[in-house]
Order: sequence, then C-alpha cells, then structure tokens
Amino acid sequence: MTLSLTAAQSYRQPWPGLIEAYRQYLPVSDKTPVVTLHEGNTPLIPVPALAERIGRQVRVFVKYDGLNPTGSFKDRGMTMAISKAKEDGAKAVICASTGNTSAAAAAYARRGRMRAFVLIPDGYVALGKLAQALLYGAEVLAIKGNFDRALEIVRQMAENYPVTLVNSVNPYRLEGQKTGAFEVVDALGNAPDWLCIPVGNAGNITAYWMGFCQYHQDGKCDRLPRMMGFQAAGAAPLVGGQPVTHPETIATAIRIGNPASWEKAVAAQTASKGNFHAVTDTEILDAYRILASEEGIFCEPASAASVAGLLQVKDQVPTGATVVCVLTGNGLKDPDTAIKHSQSQVKQGIEPEIPAVAQAMGF
Ligand code: F0G
Repeated sequence: MTLSLTAAQSYRQPWPGLIEAYRQYLPVSDKTPVVTLHEGNTPLIPVPALAERIGRQVRVFVKYDGLNPTGSFKDRGMTMAISKAKEDGAKAVICASTGNTSAAAAAYARRGRMRAFVLIPDGYVALGKLAQALLYGAEVLAIKGNFDRALEIVRQMAENYPVTLVNSVNPYRLEGQKTGAFEVVDALGNAPDWLCIPVGNAGNITAYWMGFCQYHQDGKCDRLPRMMGFQAAGAAPLVGGQPVTHPETIATAIRIGNPASWEKAVAAQTASKGNFHAVTDTEILDAYRILASEEGIFCEPASAASVAGLLQVKDQVPTGATVVCVLTGNGLKDPDTAIKHSQSQVKQGIEPEIPAVAQAMGF
C-alpha cells in the first residue's frame, strides 16, 4: 500500500510556504526565486454555534485566512506575484488597494528587495492595514477617489512605467490564491457542499473555483462546491448586474463598485450552480460579533460577510451539508470598527482596590 499524504501533512514540520507545498500545481520553476513568509496552511475551524443556528445536521467550518503572515489571504497571491516579478527582474511593484493588498504587497516586495507603490482611497483604509504598509516600507499614495479609480490608474502606470502590477489582474495572484481551495480539500478529504466567500474585486472567488476544479481533475475530490459569493449591499455590482458608481459599506475591504474579475466570477457562479447575494452592514456586523463572542474568532468586517450571507440563506442549505466560510482577514486589521461596534464597553475610573473591583464585577 502506498501512503498518500496531503501537502499539508507531509509538510507539517516545518511548513515551507505554499509555493513549496503545492509546487506541482503552480507555474514556478527551479529558476524562480521564491519570496515567502511561509504563508498558507491556515486552520479550518469548526464553528458549532453557527452550525446550531442552521440546524439540520449541517457542518460549518471557517477557513481562517486572517492567520497568514500579514493577516489576510492576500499573502497567498503575493508570494506568487512577487516571486514571479523578481524572476522577471522587476525593481518595483504597484497596486491599488482597500488595504490588505497593500500590506501584503509591501511585505513581500520589501522581502524581495523591491520598491512597493500602493494607491489607496484616501480615508477608507482600516488603521491596521495602513500601519502595516507604512512600517513595511511601502510608498503610500492616498488618492481622492475610490478603489475602482485607483485600479484604473495603476493599470496604466504599469503599462507606461517600470513597475509590475500586483493586483489580482496579475494572473500569478490567482494561482497563489487557489491554494486556499487545495487546503480546504486536504483538510476535509473532499470539497465542501457550499463555499461561502466575500466578494469585492472578485479575484478570490475566481481563484477558489480554479483550485477546486484543478483538484477535482486531479482526483483529490469527487465533487465541486456551490460557490456562494456575498457582497456588501452598498457595493453589490454582481448582485445588481451593473457597476456601482459610489460604493459604500462599513466593510471597507470590499467597498468596490466595478470588480476586475467580473466575468470570471460569474463563470464560477454559473458553473458551480452558486449564487451572489447582498448582505447589509447590519447583517455583517451581527455576524462579526457572533464569530467573536460565540466562536472566539476575530475577523475583519469584510470577512464576516461570508458568515452573514450564510445566515441570510441558511434555510437553503441542504440537510447534512458541509459548508465552509472563508474568513479572509484578521480582526486586528480594523480596531476602530471593533471598538465602535462592540456590545461591551470598558468600565473606567475604577479605584485600584479589591472592594471597588469586586463591585465593578457585580459581586
Ligand atoms: N476580504 C478581504 C478582507 C479583502 O481585503 C478583500 C479584498 C476581499 C475580501 C475581497 O476579495 O477582491 O478577491 O473579491 N481586498 C482587496 C484589497 C480589494 O485591496 O485588499 P476579492
């Protein structure tokens, strides 16, 4: 009998990063200088309180990609994009970003000894993400416009100047991100019935679908999931079927009105018999608080859209189904939203004495 180990199992000690772990599935060669922070291999965590809300023996897991080195799934794509840029001799990279891409681009570019230019929508990037980009040493340019405009600009910059574009329109980004699907299948032993995922620029839903299809062709799973994409109600072009000129949502990571991977995402939805739905900011915040206070999992608001969406359409989940929600980013990325929308408050001004503390505790 041959012992067949998944990539995650054979690399458990130590995990070498996703390019080494999944090399056979990725467009890299011996000549590719691998720029890695040992990203990937994030946990698939059962969430029983959520499963209980759905009932009917449904199993629910979250793929906690907020545990990547820069705190989001973008590291999966960036290890590939930066390694390939370095292989091509690039000296500088550029991206537009709602925050996470800029943090990942900055970290990997600096590690690969390149300059990182990032264009962000002024005033709409969560504090943690900005802090990361600055400390990693990115050159941060805040534009008086939204993400969609920033992306148009960086696409043209990359055509006219010696800078490599590392947004998800760079095909290597999606190649790296598809490993999220590989890890889900490696952990479950098969594909889930449903894959719930937040959708902004629509790269990640495209990448996950690529990953599931590739693993399916390779015989690693015998089924494919329904791809359930969730957008914020104020920024839901794929639900409405047309671009949104002024996208608005508390989930600034997915505040996007004209996704670059529009057609590919629709193709994934159609082929998988999946769906796009809009979730309101209220639903996003409810899911965000439930994940933290009932499951102990702190994700950022955009990530909670996947869980908000699942709860919205929970009656459609088949009995006994296995559902995976992708939690794309870490909650520490956006401390302002956490503090503002937490139901708990700091009890201040307590005297540093036992009776005072006991009283404040309600004893
Ligand atoms: N969740 C988080 C935390 C994100 O940062 C993003 C995208 C998404 C979901 C949506 O993924 O764009 O592939 O559909 N953030 C990009 C950025 C736009 O610039 O960091 P998508």
